[in-house]
Amino acid sequence: MKSYFYFFLILFLSITTSYSQNHEIPQDFLSREFHENRREALRELLPENSVAVYFANPVRNRANDVDYVYHQDPNFYYLTGYREPNALVLIFKEEQTSGNTTYNELIFVQERNEFAEMWNGKRMGTLGAQDELGFRLAYNGSEFSSFDIDFSKFDKILFEEFHNDVRDNPRDKADLFDLIKTFKEKISYDLNSLSSPTTDKIQEEKTKRIDTKKLRTIMATLREVKTKDELVLIKKAVEISAVGQLEIMKAMHSEMSEAEVQGVHEFVYKKYGAEYEGYPSIVGAGGNGCILHYIENNKTVVGNGELVLMDLGAEYRGYTADVTRTIPANGKFTTEQKLIYDLVYKAQEAGIQKYTIGTSMREPNKVAIKIINEGLYKLGIIKSAKATHTYFPHGTSHHIGLDVHDPGNYQKFEENMVVTMEPGIYIPKGSDCDEKWWGIAVRIEDDILVTKNGPVNLSEMAPRTSEAIEAVMKLPSVLTNFNLPNLD
Ligand code: GLY
Ligand code: MN
Ligand code: MN
Repeated sequence: MKSYFYFFLILFLSITTSYSQNHEIPQDFLSREFHENRREALRELLPENSVAVYFANPVRNRANDVDYVYHQDPNFYYLTGYREPNALVLIFKEEQTSGNTTYNELIFVQERNEFAEMWNGKRMGTLGAQDELGFRLAYNGSEFSSFDIDFSKFDKILFEEFHNDVRDNPRDKADLFDLIKTFKEKISYDLNSLSSPTTDKIQEEKTKRIDTKKLRTIMATLREVKTKDELVLIKKAVEISAVGQLEIMKAMHSEMSEAEVQGVHEFVYKKYGAEYEGYPSIVGAGGNGCILHYIENNKTVVGNGELVLMDLGAEYRGYTADVTRTIPANGKFTTEQKLIYDLVYKAQEAGIQKYTIGTSMREPNKVAIKIINEGLYKLGIIKSAKATHTYFPHGTSHHIGLDVHDPGNYQKFEENMVVTMEPGIYIPKGSDCDEKWWGIAVRIEDDILVTKNGPVNLSEMAPRTSEAIEAVMKLPSVLTNFNLPNLD
């Protein structure tokens, strides 16, 4: 009787544990098949008799014994799905033979380690790399140095240049520092010899075989067009960020701080299960909006009568949104603010219409510049529509994906690209125009999917016209009654 009791108890526990494991951890990461397919697609683009080598991102130290939250290198993640540090992957164009073994890819990962896992969480190890990532041959990083690969037989060894900014952890003999060092030894790689011309014939031969440029173009070609699986995650990231913007519009009042605005977006994306933001949040009130990558976000009140520029992007299962809205802190645009806002909107709308298959990716920027220049001239802010100025100092269109500025070749729009459209006008204090314009900064940024049926605005849930923004800002917010005790 007793043994039956224990049998059922264990059965019950194992069922509930596996149930909770399956349902308490996100299950919607890219599949193993996605990463396998991407490696196959890469192989097709590699030159004959070549190997492509990718390293995981380094762990970055924040201070003393605390590191930054780890984030995988997007290329490494794209090709493997591995989210841990201290790893490398080798992808061979052709099937390789070593003794009785044949392979066309190898991964070296962090070794399982009970002590390290107690402190820093579970490692998948070689078995995980086989079962979950689909690598038939997976090894511990410590096995890389003795692994027999004759690099001298390849016509091309492709990798991205190292930045010499990786710390050695002296207690770990197979950390990223050691893996890179071993790799350099194996290919007799001498950094200096690449930049300085050499008369040494052997060295010249070696240098010709090493290519630290080509992978960039290859990865851009692979990553610029999104697969169906990637689009699911991108749409989710973008919609989450758009809802974040909507909630901010409802909650906004002139006494809010820039950091609080950022916090509302963070609360929304965490509630939807997004991991973090894909780039540091930009929340600039008044003149702070003129600083393009303003990330201090430390103005304590956004201020009555100011515009608040909010460039926010949630990262969901690795894929990031990039959405900007600019709204009046008190819910109503001033005459000058509205004139500038509506001009940026007009430029954005015209640009979005160019997101059609086969159109040059430079076209939206051109269209936006023309409209903004003509508009600034009509408003008397510049002296002629052709005058050079610094009020619109950036381009309008970049790919998004695993990176906020995703790689791409920037030629013509293709189906299933996701590209931002983000014109802006920034008039800092002291500009050479009537001071009624000073301190106005407006950027409107949306994430556009290119389809056979034309552009689709993935971020349309965030109100965008000046009228729609003012209307939404009148709606009640649940945060109005979120009052905390005074700690003075
Ligand atoms: N958030 C950076 C950018 O818009 O490109
Ligand atoms: Mn952008
Ligand atoms: Mn942005």
